[in-house]
Amino acid sequence: MSRLILALDVYERNRALEIAECTADYLWAVKVNWPLIIGSGLKIITELKQVTGLPIIADLKLADIPNTNRLIARKVFGAGADYIITHGFTGRDSVKAVMELGETIIVVEMSHPGAKEFIQPATEGLIKMTNELEPFGVIAPATRPERIRYIRSKLKPEIRVITPGVGAQGGKAGEAIRAGADYVIVGRSIYESENPRETARRLFEEVRVWS
Ligand code: XMP
Repeated sequence: MSRLILALDVYERNRALEIAECTADYLWAVKVNWPLIIGSGLKIITELKQVTGLPIIADLKLADIPNTNRLIARKVFGAGADYIITHGFTGRDSVKAVMELGETIIVVEMSHPGAKEFIQPATEGLIKMTNELEPFGVIAPATRPERIRYIRSKLKPEIRVITPGVGAQGGKAGEAIRAGADYVIVGRSIYESENPRETARRLFEEVRVWS
């Protein structure tokens, strides 16, 4: 099984479907984020599922009160999303509101430089909450393999570690997997490449070699 997740951060429906279709053989899942949902509407989730037959992760990074998280999550799971990514810093009631509706992935640390300001100092508490709630998985940064290793070591073994930050942000797919990631998320390095299928195939091989 593949450990590669495509981050499909394009606006346009036809382009999104084309890239997803040509890379699907090498993916575990397709991740959609606000750019694609804003550009193409929520129905793109249903369409991507039909075209690829793969799980769809809605990377909404929900960060609201429980009622609003619930209202959003209901529509997004209803459109066919298999997983929703939610922030954890809003507290367990907000996270639980999403978990009650479907499979959830909690952000415990982020991959960009600014994550060191506020998110990294909160990671310890977010890990503790995650172990209590037992969601499908967490997001940890491929840009900092030592943090993946640390987060993995603190989490219950059945909670998956999913890592963005490979390629365009500087992280290495193989390194992330060796540090303990279950899946790597890759966006621009695939969809901006000359040959997205071939790039996806290479990344698929890279994470397979080390797994
Ligand atoms: P690129 O183009 O950098 O895309 O390969 C990465 C994708 O992953 C998202 N992303 C994150 N999501 N925590 C998250 O929950 C993170 O630390 C993080 N870093 C990147 C990004 O929005 C894009 O869709």
